[in-house]
Amino acid sequence: MRIAHISDIHANDGSDFNNKTFEKAVKLLNRFEADLVFISGDLTSYGLLHEYELAAEKLAQIEGKKAIVPGNHDEKNLGYKLFPEFFGNTDFVRYYGNCTIVGLATSEPDKDNGRLGRGRHRLIIRGIQRKKNLTCIGFHHHLVPIPNSGREHNIIDDAGETLDIILRNNVPLVLMGHRHVPYAVKIHNTLLVSAGTFSCNRTRAHFGNTFNIIDVKNKQIVVTVVDIEKQKQQKMVKFNPDDGCYINRYYNTEKRID
Ligand SMILES: [Fe+2]
Ligand SMILES: [Fe+2]
Repeated sequence: MRIAHISDIHANDGSDFNNKTFEKAVKLLNRFEADLVFISGDLTSYGLLHEYELAAEKLAQIEGKKAIVPGNHDEKNLGYKLFPEFFGNTDFVRYYGNCTIVGLATSEPDKDNGRLGRGRHRLIIRGIQRKKNLTCIGFHHHLVPIPNSGREHNIIDDAGETLDIILRNNVPLVLMGHRHVPYAVKIHNTLLVSAGTFSCNRTRAHFGNTFNIIDVKNKQIVVTVVDIEKQKQQKMVKFNPDDGCYINRYYNTEKRID
């Protein structure tokens, strides 16, 4: 199973959106032939109708199945009314082969911070109970602080409760966006993965525009970061939830991930 994890497209007719980068990114992305493209929100910059139209037009270039959740920017200016019209349910449990994907909206109208709440926690439990080979939970905001992304704010309000449900149930994979930098860290038996921005000009330092490719084979999860401008790939994390074996290139500098 291969999941392409992309985030923070920020379709907009101002300075936020880089169309050139988007076009380049899409060509690269389609070459990976992922079984599923998970998009962790901020498809627009201000939640405006013409931005939604632009985002839909752009996303049509991405081949294959897509699962999409909204970000805080998509909920601005009544954008939360437009999201379902363009991209379907904001909260869902879906099945792709042997994988369960629970997609959740962490955003609230006109607020930058996020929250899940008890209803969405119940949806996580429902997804976990399907007991497919891989359970993956995806949403926009981050559950843990993300380094290299500036001031640590906007971690979801009920991060403690959410993390507790996820860790108790040994959910192998959580996908997040919002901070515009790629990152991954293992806590207990869960791999938390953050995607950088696909096509927004607001990149962080030298991180540039990136997306993640997540390969799951025999329960082993390998996350590769693709740098769009440099057209280069770098393996970020290798994790086997069965034996707990975990290599992270940020912290295990002496070990190469093959
Ligand atoms: Fe964003
Ligand atoms: Fe965001």
